[in-house]
Amino acid sequence: MQAKQVLLTGGTGGLGQGVIPVLLAQGAELTVPYRRVAKVEPLKKQRSPAELARLHFVEADLSDEAAVAELVEAMPRVDALIHLVGGFSMGKTHTYDYSDWKKAFNLNLDTTFLVCKQVLQRMLAQNYGRIVTIGSRGAAQPAAQLAAYSAAKAGVVALTQAIAQETQGTGITANVVLPSVIDTSANREAMGTDQADQWVKPTSLAHLIGFLASEAAGDIRGAAIPVYGDA
Ligand SMILES: NC(=O)c1ccc[n+]([C@@H]2O[C@H](COP(=O)([O-])OP(=O)(O)OC[C@H]3O[C@@H](n4cnc5c(N)ncnc54)[C@H](OP(=O)(O)O)[C@@H]3O)[C@@H](O)[C@H]2O)c1
Repeated sequence: MQAKQVLLTGGTGGLGQGVIPVLLAQGAELTVPYRRVAKVEPLKKQRSPAELARLHFVEADLSDEAAVAELVEAMPRVDALIHLVGGFSMGKTHTYDYSDWKKAFNLNLDTTFLVCKQVLQRMLAQNYGRIVTIGSRGAAQPAAQLAAYSAAKAGVVALTQAIAQETQGTGITANVVLPSVIDTSANREAMGTDQADQWVKPTSLAHLIGFLASEAAGDIRGAAIPVYGDA
């Protein structure tokens, strides 16, 4: 990943905080869009001055197509997109609010479409690129009370695999990672720590993501990779 220009979305989230140090250690230059500035300052404090020179935080709402276009246009190149933005909400289908259904699709699937659309224009012009999206175990094994999340993440898988087909014969690849529960501080707060040793570590996901985003992974396209840890 030495000197690769990487757009890392969701970098201020629980998984992103594990991905940032791994990619910086591999030599990448990161553009990290954020919404809440309060989450940026603590992340900056953890990095050395040399790393901070390769870590660029940019305010952007990725559900806004114009903001996404501006973000992508401002990058010198886009060698890799790592799209971590997403999130879940729970509820049984017969009582689930339609507004929450639309929010789940907007957060998980619409942002993925908008960012992929813009980076693909740059990648096709370069004839090179790596797209890594994040689905969820629920995309492959939908669970009760997670219909909206599971359906939206299944959409992320379908979108990623369609992009992999569309870019055949180019230097662009697209793959999706399907984690089960990730060992983030938010999950520890919500669910306690009794089962935490079975959860997937952000650093473990970061190494897989970093490989898929690297030149070395050029033969891998359209893969939906389960990462379930011990669960
Ligand atoms: N955590 C798990 O157990 C788990 C399991 C399987 C899959 N996943 C998937 O893995 C990915 C990362 O999960 P996570 O736990 O790191 O989530 P997280 O902690 O909730 O982080 C989500 C990130 O997305 C950003 N974001 C959300 N909406 C945005 C928007 N419209 N524009 C720009 N940024 C936006 C958030 O920024 P703000 O805070 O500023 O909004 C935050 O940085 C998600 O796709 C999630 O669905 C997570």
